[in-house]
Amino acid sequence: MLARSALRNVSRTNRLFSTSAARQQKVTVLGAGGGIGQPLSLLLKLDPYVTSLSLYDIRGAPGVAADVSHVDTGSVVTGYPADKLDEALEGTKVVVIPAGVPRKPGMTRDDLFNTNASIVRDLAAAVGRVAPDAHILVISNPVNSTVPIVSEVLQKAGVYDPRRVFGVTTLDVVRAARFLAEIADSNPQETIVPVVGGHSGPTIVPLLSQLEQGKGLAGEGYDKLVHRIQFGGDEVVKAKDGAGSATLSMAYAGARFANAVLRGLAGEKGIVTPTFVKSPLFEDKGIEYFSSNVELGVNGVEKIHPLGPLSASEEKLLEACLPELKKNIEKGKAFVSQS
Ligand code: NAI
Repeated sequence: MLARSALRNVSRTNRLFSTSAARQQKVTVLGAGGGIGQPLSLLLKLDPYVTSLSLYDIRGAPGVAADVSHVDTGSVVTGYPADKLDEALEGTKVVVIPAGVPRKPGMTRDDLFNTNASIVRDLAAAVGRVAPDAHILVISNPVNSTVPIVSEVLQKAGVYDPRRVFGVTTLDVVRAARFLAEIADSNPQETIVPVVGGHSGPTIVPLLSQLEQGKGLAGEGYDKLVHRIQFGGDEVVKAKDGAGSATLSMAYAGARFANAVLRGLAGEKGIVTPTFVKSPLFEDKGIEYFSSNVELGVNGVEKIHPLGPLSASEEKLLEACLPELKKNIEKGKAFVSQS
């Protein structure tokens, strides 16, 4: 059982922003001109914890920056073109990476590997060189592989701190809350589903038995909900019909996770949310990265929470998750060691 105050904090991570801003930070978005990058930049402009917002893309970032900079909040916005990556990263404390190509109908996240792996590798190398103390929030898919890529690149550069590299899985948490609330007729903001594992199809494991609204579900209703949480991204890819994947809900999720990291950095206590990080939970099975509830603090990852009690169905989901996740992680690591 979580203590009452911890529950309050978990619930606060569910709102887009908390307003008791203490220390403010420079945040850089790499891929700011894209479908996610643009609305994410706008939402970060509204975040009271951001003092300086640096927008970079190989195309379009100065335009996005000029536009977003007119919003009447305190932060200063600067846009950087393709050849100004180092300048964009100078002095930054938090880097959010939504750079890369999105899925088209029929594609899995792993199909994006060939293009996105090298984009993420090169951006991580630049962060390691210019802003080695930055916290890196990876949105680019396949997250199960891109997080190991970032970590390996930083390790090679001798600046790796596992407490500062995060795979953003918040959209799975957001979807789980929304979809379960529809069934349970509850307030999605108070329907907090811990979603653990990884960020693709069967590696996404919602722990519905851990909350009041979800623990009674069984049979076909349960199976359908789990499938919808695992493959909710496909609904968007199909509806967009070739024009990309989730961008607006992802921007919301990314801004919410960035705000949680920033509040942790500012010294706020009890900020707990799932994220895909270097984790000891399944190390004995050769799985180095895993998403579970993580407490965020002044150094990034403060504490990795155990999964807690699982139902028999969740044990099965976990069994299906682990081998796939292991494969995805190894693919990311191999890519860096071969390049
Ligand atoms: P998009 O194609 O609209 O935007 C990507 C942007 O990245 C473009 O503006 C492009 O110019 C830029 N870019 C490409 N190479 C770059 C480089 N080397 N440096 C800087 N910028 C570069 O794609 P969208 O829809 O914004 O998706 C971005 C990524 O986010 C995709 O990999 C997608 O799969 C992933 N995604 C992740 C989710 C998650 O839950 N973690 C959810 C939805 C999408």
